[in-house]
Amino acid sequence: MAKLLSQIPESIRQEIDILLGDRERLLELIAKPDIPEAREILKLADQVRIWTVGDEVQLRGLIEFSSFCRNHCLYCGLRQDNRKLVRYRLEAPEIITAAENGVRLGYKTVVLQSGEDPSYTGEGLAEVIREIKNLGLVVTLSLGEREPWEYELWRKAGAERYLMRHETSAPALYARLHPAGRTLEKRVALLKVLKGLDYQVGTGFMVGLPGQTPETLLADLELARELNAEMVGVGPFIPHPETPLGGTVGGTVAQTCLMVALVRLILPWALVPATTALGTIDPLGREAALQSGANVVMPNLTPRTYRKDYQIYPNKICTGEEAAECRSCINRRITAIGRSVAAGPGHNVLWLERQRGNKKS
Ligand code: 5AD
Ligand code: FES
Repeated sequence: MAKLLSQIPESIRQEIDILLGDRERLLELIAKPDIPEAREILKLADQVRIWTVGDEVQLRGLIEFSSFCRNHCLYCGLRQDNRKLVRYRLEAPEIITAAENGVRLGYKTVVLQSGEDPSYTGEGLAEVIREIKNLGLVVTLSLGEREPWEYELWRKAGAERYLMRHETSAPALYARLHPAGRTLEKRVALLKVLKGLDYQVGTGFMVGLPGQTPETLLADLELARELNAEMVGVGPFIPHPETPLGGTVGGTVAQTCLMVALVRLILPWALVPATTALGTIDPLGREAALQSGANVVMPNLTPRTYRKDYQIYPNKICTGEEAAECRSCINRRITAIGRSVAAGPGHNVLWLERQRGNKKS
């Protein structure tokens, strides 16, 4: 850790410590993300990103394999109550074919994502994970809340990362947004289970949810730090017309980028995606995030016929493109801002060090 820390110049480290220790200033910046002082934070985070994770952008091929969901999250288009959504499920061989396509396109990691769909059993998914591992890919899971024994089974099958955002760290807001008894406490407990299983754990939150305040956003950062997350995804909330929050106002690019930047300062070695949601509200939103501390992009690898039906939020980009088109589009965008696409698996370096330490002892 000491060796890693020395990568950030002492003066910058001090500047960051002072900023992060000044709660009032942070709250003001979060409340006014357009003021020049807030724009300076984006530049600072961009610098820190260079010193910690470097100029390479990590790509993750996203396979959205089921749009069925048992949940009722007020913000999400996949919620069970959205009867207008066409639902689909990929069979195991189709998931593996999509992953093989990922290998051909040069991806080193695939993210298996779905709504919470219990029709996929723990063992069935473990088999899919083993087959995808055999293709030489790193497997990231994003399947929501499942049983701890399933998380353990999948880890043993070779999955190394798990994404499950805490969504909002305000317990009452969390309960309102997630009816039918879901609690922040349970979500955090499961994230800790994943940590205990040695996954690289990704949490994160949306920006611009109704009821959110600068205080709750600051608490979102604090929770990500408390969890010592290896990955933190931050995206703007985009109201979906077929949900109870359809009539509300969503998040902005400025506020989302500021939160991305603060994530980089709080967890300097984290993997931080420039989210598709940001690319949806602004054609250059992902580039803006990559220049505010982000270092990951998750292009779509879902077979094209299904894409439009994975409608978490409206007007999602990339629903008309083939996987290969997204791959080359992303390449162009990354090189256009002077960055390069990483060749390696893109693990969190702190996690890698821990793994090596564990093997020695
Ligand atoms: N707008 C933006 N992001 C959303 N998500 C869910 N619904 C929306 C929405 N309407 C995010 C959640 C979830 C991730 C997969 O997508 O944060 O964790
Ligand atoms: Fe899909 Fe640009 S990333 S078209």
